[in-house]
Amino acid sequence: MGASNNIIAVDGPAASGKGTLARRLARHFGFAYLDSGRLYRAVALRCLKNGTGSDDEKACAAEAAAITEVDLDDPALRDEATGRLASRVAALPLVRRALVDYQRRFATHPPDGKGGAVIDGRDIGTVICPEAAVKLFITATVEERASRRYKELLGQGATAIYPAVLRDLRDRDARDTNRAVAPLARAEDALQIDTTSMDADAAFAAALRYAEKRLAPGTK
Ligand code: DC
Repeated sequence: MGASNNIIAVDGPAASGKGTLARRLARHFGFAYLDSGRLYRAVALRCLKNGTGSDDEKACAAEAAAITEVDLDDPALRDEATGRLASRVAALPLVRRALVDYQRRFATHPPDGKGGAVIDGRDIGTVICPEAAVKLFITATVEERASRRYKELLGQGATAIYPAVLRDLRDRDARDTNRAVAPLARAEDALQIDTTSMDADAAFAAALRYAEKRLAPGTK
């Protein structure tokens, strides 16, 4: 694929605002959208349901290979416990390998005849689609991200304790950043957007300015 493909890779830590931004970019350009975190969450949920231990790499990889549309629609995917386990199974090389082809195919052959794809995750610009025309790396301080996640949980009617949310995000950052395979990292050629003191509209405007210059001519 040449320099002007229509792939937008959006990476960043948990609760950085990357999902909101990625969805909005997909809507704007009429591209297909894939939240790759859902795949790892689906593996985690299958492990929880089937009693598969996160220390059994081969069994976890088999769960990854068996993911169905039903798994990807389960409301329990968003649970905090699922996210925590997702970050553990995502460190297993065989699990990551089992999910590569699906993500690459989504990027190069977007579903529903869409003219491009937006994928968000941790390693999209570095490992899954290093050729992506547009790479964004979305960050915010861990305190700001914890505060957003805390408010989101309260808004959903859940009980949440800020220090626990902060500790959980720190643990997850450490696991996602320090793992040996495909760690969370900014691709050298990614635009970094720090959303700590930026609202969603400002982050979208910055991303849009950048993307418009790099997508295939005629994309709007
Ligand atoms: O973005 P999220 O919180 O839904 O992701 C859940 C976990 O999945 C996260 O802790 C790390 C992992 N993940 C990953 O390793 N690589 C991706 N491309 C996406 C998510």
